[in-house]
Amino acid sequence: MEKIGIMKKILLIVTGGIAAYRTLDLIREIKRQGDDVTCVLTSGAQQFVQPLSFGSLSGNKVYTELFDLDNESEMGHINLSRQHDLIVVAPATANILSKMSYGVADDLASTILLATDKPIMVVPSMNVKMWENLSTTANVKKLKNKGIYFVGPNKGEMACGEFGYGKMALVKEISKEINFVLKPGPLVGRKALVTSGPTIESIDPIRFISNRSSGKQGHAIARMLGNYGAETTLISGPVNLENPTNVEVKNVNTAEEMFAACKDSLPVDIAIFAAAVSDWRAESLANQKIKKEGLEGKPLKISFTENNDILKEISTLSSNRPKLVIGFSLETENLIASAKNKLAQKSCDWIIANNYNNGQESVFNSEMNNVKFVNIDSEEDWGLMTKISVAGKLCDKISGFFKSAA
Ligand SMILES: Cc1cc2nc3c(=O)[nH]c(=O)nc-3n(C[C@H](O)[C@H](O)[C@H](O)COP(=O)(O)O)c2cc1C
Repeated sequence: MEKIGIMKKILLIVTGGIAAYRTLDLIREIKRQGDDVTCVLTSGAQQFVQPLSFGSLSGNKVYTELFDLDNESEMGHINLSRQHDLIVVAPATANILSKMSYGVADDLASTILLATDKPIMVVPSMNVKMWENLSTTANVKKLKNKGIYFVGPNKGEMACGEFGYGKMALVKEISKEINFVLKPGPLVGRKALVTSGPTIESIDPIRFISNRSSGKQGHAIARMLGNYGAETTLISGPVNLENPTNVEVKNVNTAEEMFAACKDSLPVDIAIFAAAVSDWRAESLANQKIKKEGLEGKPLKISFTENNDILKEISTLSSNRPKLVIGFSLETENLIASAKNKLAQKSCDWIIANNYNNGQESVFNSEMNNVKFVNIDSEEDWGLMTKISVAGKLCDKISGFFKSAA
């Protein structure tokens, strides 16, 4: 891989998870990219792996003890926390996430993590029930809010035989994220806007119509564009997700508000419309709650009027049209034919098409997606992958587009 800039120094903290042995491959990958890596192992980690392997592969001393006289005469834990460009915790146990969340500093790893002023990336790996436990989810939320980068976990079969989220991210996914944090991104200098989530359209002061979009794909794309260096605005309908910390977020409710926010965010180089925008809104909004008593058993009739087609409106702007306009197309049948149709009808440049079922489960709220990329002269099947990987692949393609246009 091409080396950008000078060698970076990474401190790799290995904690006591079953996936600890997989960080040996991560060390190889970091070294292969020309960066330097020093390892800290918790006592839990040493139950699974030997410091000797980490020392041999990294070519550096391995640190395990907080009260190590040699190092502490020079405040070794403070030095370790400051001498590196990035701290990566992989695998990150539920235990270390909890200690980081509460500021516990009772061993070398947790003390470094509390003392550092450098970016921290965690790569969780644990049993699905540990990951879904309310204590862990609260800790993760708190850490994300503090700006700590998370990579994974992925979904799959666990070492214990159970299935779900908790598998450590792949080495290539981790090294890609490390590169994003440490190296200048290929989209630096570009501006982007991304829409995400559902819109909601009121029918009376109490009720609304909406759809099942979770916003996970749109948010992953916005965050990834930010990682790639693009100055990104995320326009989001109501979702139950953390805001990415590296983008500007504008919250909206209705399709009309989303359209207005999109126009306000122009000009941009890249516009990605991943939101599930309601095609219709109630023609008139009832001032009071609609009562079933007033209907006397007859069906409730509501007339709907069409909303603006945001993708088409932005794609066909005579001035300020983004250089690259990408639409999403979710279908229940005839995926490719519908995507090609949409490409022509809306005048956008690319379509990312996906079925409502990803082959494993409903795509709504899932971490996984199964998409097809369609443009005027090609179509590609990207297969089943995490929504984060879809975001990465899309950003690679966008970077390639601007590189070849330059
Ligand atoms: C066989 C075995 C496998 C374990 N695997 C994991 C794991 O994958 N993830 C995790 O969070 N904890 C796992 N644990 C529990 C941790 O090792 C335990 O919470 C420990 O205190 C972690 O210490 P540390 O975070 O300081 O390394 C495992 C324990 C055992 C005995």
